[in-house]
Amino acid sequence: METITVNLGDRSYSVITGEGAVDQTAARLKNLRIGSDAYIITNAVVEKLYGKRLRSILKRAGFGVRVKVVPDSERSKSMKTAFDVIRDLASSDINKRTFVIAFGGGVIGDCAGFVAAVYKRGIPLVHIPTTLLAQVDSSVGGKTAIDLPEGKNLVGAFYQPRIVISDIAFLPSLPLRQVRAGCAEIIKYAAISDAGLFSFLEQNAAAILSADREALVHVVNRCIRIKAKIVEKDEREEKGLRTILNFGHTVGHAIETVTKYTVYTHGEAIAFGMLAAAEISVASGMLDKGDCARLRSLIADFALPVRAKNLDLDKLIAAQYRDKKFSGSRNRFVVLKAIGTAVVTEDVPLQILRKALRTIL
Ligand SMILES: NC(=O)c1ccc[n+]([C@@H]2O[C@H](COP(=O)([O-])OP(=O)(O)OC[C@H]3O[C@@H](n4cnc5c(N)ncnc54)[C@H](O)[C@@H]3O)[C@@H](O)[C@H]2O)c1
Ligand SMILES: [Zn+2]
Repeated sequence: METITVNLGDRSYSVITGEGAVDQTAARLKNLRIGSDAYIITNAVVEKLYGKRLRSILKRAGFGVRVKVVPDSERSKSMKTAFDVIRDLASSDINKRTFVIAFGGGVIGDCAGFVAAVYKRGIPLVHIPTTLLAQVDSSVGGKTAIDLPEGKNLVGAFYQPRIVISDIAFLPSLPLRQVRAGCAEIIKYAAISDAGLFSFLEQNAAAILSADREALVHVVNRCIRIKAKIVEKDEREEKGLRTILNFGHTVGHAIETVTKYTVYTHGEAIAFGMLAAAEISVASGMLDKGDCARLRSLIADFALPVRAKNLDLDKLIAAQYRDKKFSGSRNRFVVLKAIGTAVVTEDVPLQILRKALRTIL
């Protein structure tokens, strides 16, 4: 087991990784004096697989436990679900010191994180991520959000958890498609800041996809460290440093919005987005064609899709201009200078953007 610290002054916290981390949950929470009553937000899939185990770990240690099951889809990142959860939480939270446990993938993490951030102006939050994507990305860094019909992640807050318990023992039950989705974010970290990790992925794609323990532990720890370092330097995305974590996400979010979050996983959508961003990088004279080809073949090695079907180019562009990462009418993209180095660029000419998008449609 390993402990990775996210150093953010009085908002610092530990990320506990490795197999069996979840068994330490109760002791860790007691140490943090986090409260007496756990309000676990989860979905039916995770509840059925692992709910009993978590509940008994907490109950044995004397914690009160209440479980709230929300729908298993991006729909749970909606105002309706979030406020349904908040009202349920308020009705149970009488004379207690309640804390929230986000127990599930990134959808649960974002919804539960939002609830914990706004209920009573903030109550303690614990992430216990159960997908590869949530372990390497969404559980660390404090971004919480729900979606609006107008776009993804439009309502939210920066709200750091008190601890993250990231146990790879949850991963073997994950459908292969979801493992691949997590791999898309792992490829993202490698592409923007770690050429060594990129080579490791090129050599170990099969091991990672078959949930090989050693390979998984290596990549999960590496990605959490990369994210922690970036978040430590620019917690609230004010210095343009954290922005590079959005590599592939401008186009990716637009694809998710126009397909109403039902056609592609988040990871698949950002795989398209990374390809488009790499093409923009080449067309803007920043990235070598060979590096772009390396990224394309790594994405293919992880059996992530490289072409989106039945999407309208103009709708995709319109959705991007509503993205909150765009400032005014200027577009903004994270582009690569090389494998392992990313920068933010503005005002990509529309014709370059259109040409790049055509390569993924
Ligand atoms: N806050 C952030 O920094 C951040 C970063 C990246 C992504 N996100 C968000 O995360 C979301 C995507 O997260 P995700 O990819 O984890 O999707 P998800 O939460 O929808 O989970 C994927 C599927 O896996 C199932 N599942 C979860 N754990 C399982 C397990 N151990 N075994 C079997 N099945 C399991 C879920 O029920 C679900 O059907 C998006 O909404 C995205 O915007 C947020
Ligand atoms: Zn993402």
